[in-house]
Amino acid sequence: MGNAILEETLKELEVTQKEFWNVAKETGNFLNMLVKMNNSQSVLEIGTSNGYSGLLFLDALKSTGGMFTTIEFHDSRRLVAVENYNKCGFSGKYNSLKGDACEILKSFCEKDKFDFVFIDANKREYVEYFKIIKPHLLPHSIIAADNVNSHREKIQTFLDSIYADKDFQTEILDLPGGLSVSYKLS
Ligand SMILES: C[S@@+](CC[C@H](N)C(=O)[O-])C[C@H]1O[C@@H](n2cnc3c(N)ncnc32)[C@H](O)[C@@H]1O
Repeated sequence: MGNAILEETLKELEVTQKEFWNVAKETGNFLNMLVKMNNSQSVLEIGTSNGYSGLLFLDALKSTGGMFTTIEFHDSRRLVAVENYNKCGFSGKYNSLKGDACEILKSFCEKDKFDFVFIDANKREYVEYFKIIKPHLLPHSIIAADNVNSHREKIQTFLDSIYADKDFQTEILDLPGGLSVSYKLS
């Protein structure tokens, strides 16, 4: 990483991981690698919390030269995330959107496009996020979704929907909580 403040901040946030529902360290590292492997230019995160996963996306986007957008309706958590991003040197590299995820996704215009989407907000709404964001995905995009094993009952409609969709190839990885990764074939 080569960014001492970032490494220190990540370590601090790992202490309160359960309190802020952050992704596990292994999941964050994998997402960071995936963004670099796919050379993603436009990452959208649904569910910011205090910015732990966002810091790992921003670190990866430093290599690809891309931009990060993240959505959170809980304002005090969102402001902590913003503070963390800025403290680690990522000012000007992100859009932090405040509000309900479905409402914000529906407000995107035709030219708003993403090549990486990370779903990590209301588990029962995963399927809605997928349906709304699909028209905004570039060819060969990736959709990753956290907690697909730990919250299987709540997210099953999402998995049914994305497995049935011939535009995507999907696999579930045995990371803590279970992470699904879907690849848009064209
Ligand atoms: C699991 S946490 C996100 C953790 C974060 N991705 C990380 O790993 O650091 C989920 C967050 O989504 C937010 N959230 C839940 N439902 C939401 C909704 N409908 N719209 C916007 N944010 C929502 C919660 O307030 C919470 O902070």
